[in-house]
Amino acid sequence: MMKFRYDENSTPVNSDEICNLIPSHIQTQSELNLWEQNNIANAERKLFASKKPLNITSDFIKKVHKSMFCNTWKWAGKFRTVNTNIGIDRIKISVEIQLLCDDLAFWFGNNSYPLAETAVRFSHRLVCIHPFTNGNGRCSRLLADLIMVRKGFQRFSWGSKNLTEISEVRSKYIQALRAADNFDIESLLDFAAS
Ligand SMILES: Nc1ncnc2c1ncn2[C@@H]1O[C@H](COP(=O)(O)OP(=O)(O)OP(=O)(O)O)[C@@H](O)[C@H]1O
Ligand SMILES: [Mg+2]
Repeated sequence: MMKFRYDENSTPVNSDEICNLIPSHIQTQSELNLWEQNNIANAERKLFASKKPLNITSDFIKKVHKSMFCNTWKWAGKFRTVNTNIGIDRIKISVEIQLLCDDLAFWFGNNSYPLAETAVRFSHRLVCIHPFTNGNGRCSRLLADLIMVRKGFQRFSWGSKNLTEISEVRSKYIQALRAADNFDIESLLDFAAS
């Protein structure tokens, strides 16, 4: 019987999620991590190669999540239909995502914040909504990176470590998210560039 590891700062992959796993040979958390990383690396290659101007809509967010997890999870690119330990009530997801995309367009249109701050604020709002069953953190960070790269800047370094593993750097990341939950965006902005 496969055991998945998670901490309270992630959406757990529980036993009823296993039926949604596409590859049938995966037995352990580390095999799953590797498989996901490979799926995400393929998605990143395509997304970073594109020179199209970004238009972040609800459909685009789904498209990015889908390309990151299409070989891994059946719910890739689909908003969750159940409530999770992190995130808003499932019935509010569509509306909150729409509001977030509208706010992002307003921030861009009015130069409300410097670009990096816009990207990080967007990423934080997205993980707070937590629209997907899993992969919300990774999808939100990739979208922030895409905002930077499509405007000609480097992607963020996000602590320069794989954040999926439980580590000191991950704790710093979670702390910075909690500060952002309390409307202090500075630490997350610093962390993204660290
Ligand atoms: N207090 C918090 N406020 C906002 N977001 C949070 C908070 N705690 C955790 N998160 C976000 O939730 C993510 C975990 O959710 P989920 O498991 O869906 O994402 P993931 O991509 O699988 O995980 P990870 O980002 O750890 O690789 C964290 O990475 C973080 O971005
Ligand atoms: Mg997770």
